[in-house]
Amino acid sequence: MNPAAGPPIETATAAAIDRAGALIRNGRLVAFPTETVYGLGADATNGTAVAALFEAKDRPQFNPLIVHVPGLMSAFRLVEVDGRCERLAARFWPGALTMVLPRSPDCPVSELACAGLETLAVRAPDHAVAQGLLATSGCPIAAPSANLSGEVSPTTARHVAVSLGDRVDMVLDGGPCRVGIESTVLDLSARRARILRPGGITAEDIADVIGPLAAAAPEGAAAPASPGMLESHYATYLALRTDATELRPGEALLAFGPEPLEGAVEVQNLSPAGDLIEAAANLFAMMRLLDRPEHSGIAVMKVPDEGLGRAINDRLRRAAH
Ligand code: TXA
Ligand code: MG
Repeated sequence: MNPAAGPPIETATAAAIDRAGALIRNGRLVAFPTETVYGLGADATNGTAVAALFEAKDRPQFNPLIVHVPGLMSAFRLVEVDGRCERLAARFWPGALTMVLPRSPDCPVSELACAGLETLAVRAPDHAVAQGLLATSGCPIAAPSANLSGEVSPTTARHVAVSLGDRVDMVLDGGPCRVGIESTVLDLSARRARILRPGGITAEDIADVIGPLAAAAPEGAAAPASPGMLESHYATYLALRTDATELRPGEALLAFGPEPLEGAVEVQNLSPAGDLIEAAANLFAMMRLLDRPEHSGIAVMKVPDEGLGRAINDRLRRAAH
């Protein structure tokens, strides 16, 4: 699909946005402009597509992603909207404000998109191309900035193509981004709202609408750089051990590959075929399934430490502590 000769950049005409929407629906990755920076988008409800997104960014960790929606009405299905969220959305959406809220009980977003957290970050982008893509795809779109891990966020289609090359199925070119820095990430999951990542919309702007905020984390640690740094991150109740080669009495097994260890009281297999994308898509849901008090612990078989396996192992190591 991507000609080796050049990056897959397409001017964001209505026809191109239609094709991009179909790609997203089919589990593919599309980079698209927002008013802040270019995002690398995937269907947020498709765990395999979200896993492919982490793989494309080459991130060694599963950071929770921002899920993009057309507006507040669409957010109601995904998160528990409260009065503060409604007032902030009325004032700043569509726009550069991301709000972190508890997931709704029937939230269709894949657990991988929010890295197993009970909360979800949502944002309505203020850009016609992003809104067009949300309309043609018909799904909430998980989108981190469209760059390889460790690089600065891209503000033109060319930046995206240079960084991601043929890891992305299409780049919609909507010209340079107007704002140029990422959205402000505001945590509304606690009683006192708190800024997790400063951005285009300031603390003063936000306090004008909902009153005083909790103090931000100290300089340099303003954003939780990885989900492991978030106190609320899902930790298994049971003891979990990695690289298991035999089972202990009463243990449940989180298997990987075609030859699961025998004798477990319960087994979930991350990927019988040994596919790391499938394993990543299943990781959080399977950890939860096995994490029940009738088991003595969770034994996890070795997952190769390459590609997405690094992020899977990072998460398992954190859970093992
Ligand atoms: O402007 C932006 O926000 C761009 C455009 C594409 O929308 N997106 C972006 O995504 O910058 P990303 O993945 O590069 O940054 C997402 C930020 C991270 O700091 C992450 O930790 C935080 O949002 N975040 C996402 N979900 C969260 C959650 N449930 N709880 C706490 N922080 C969360
Ligand atoms: Mg980023």
